[in-house]
Amino acid sequence: MYHTKRIDGREFNILIQGSGEPFLFVHGFPLDHSMWNAQIAEFSKTHLVIAPDLRGFGASKCDDEKVTMLDYANDLAAMLDEFSIDTPVNLCGLSMGGYIAWQFYRNHRSKLKSIILCDTKAAADSEAAQQTRRETSEKVLQNGPGFLAEAMPEKLFSAVTLSNNQAVVEQTQSVIRSTSPQTVSAALLGMAERPDVTEMLPKIDFPTLVVVGEHDSITTSAEMQEIANTIPNADFIEIRDAGHMSPLEQPEQVNSAIADFLKNR
Ligand code: MLT
Repeated sequence: MYHTKRIDGREFNILIQGSGEPFLFVHGFPLDHSMWNAQIAEFSKTHLVIAPDLRGFGASKCDDEKVTMLDYANDLAAMLDEFSIDTPVNLCGLSMGGYIAWQFYRNHRSKLKSIILCDTKAAADSEAAQQTRRETSEKVLQNGPGFLAEAMPEKLFSAVTLSNNQAVVEQTQSVIRSTSPQTVSAALLGMAERPDVTEMLPKIDFPTLVVVGEHDSITTSAEMQEIANTIPNADFIEIRDAGHMSPLEQPEQVNSAIADFLKNR
């Protein structure tokens, strides 16, 4: 069931489904909660699934000029409080959702039970990457997100998905096209200044699963293997025939990896 909640003066759209231990899904950029549809369907059979649209994305509203990863993490903590969810959550974040997961770990540790990091990075942006984000932010504000919807599938999806699963590609493009320019720009500026969390990794003392698509070109398998090697006791899984959007591209493989992880921890 969808809930509309006002938190700190902003309106959020939050899907809550199922019952049991809470399981929070945090989407990537510039998407919305629907990228988790296959995980929501599966894990709401056994868990209380919470799948929000982050500030401004999907049906949530926002007119901030910049939103930091900590802002998004604080929103998630406030949502849990709004729903009186005080049992620690399993948190699954993809890419930007992973950047937010690091900040949630750093600032809201008492609300966490386990962490699932899909296709994400611990390192900050290089100077050049920050500059590209600032230019993209300007371009989106001037022209809208249409050019991103055209350009991103090449980077987001594996060749297998691009040729065999046009429905998923088009659905993702349609979400990107309908995201407000202001929201896309605010997230780009927030991502550009996100901190490097590499130093924090050896201290992470929660059960952690690291998931990556074998053909992910944005956050490579080697980079994610390195994250898994650095976090004590993290599990690592590479998803066959998937790119950056592994949970959307190969939901059965990802769901089964998550289910095994949750069962064994
Ligand atoms: C995402 O999928 O959330 C983006 O690739 C994150 C980013 O642009 O760094």
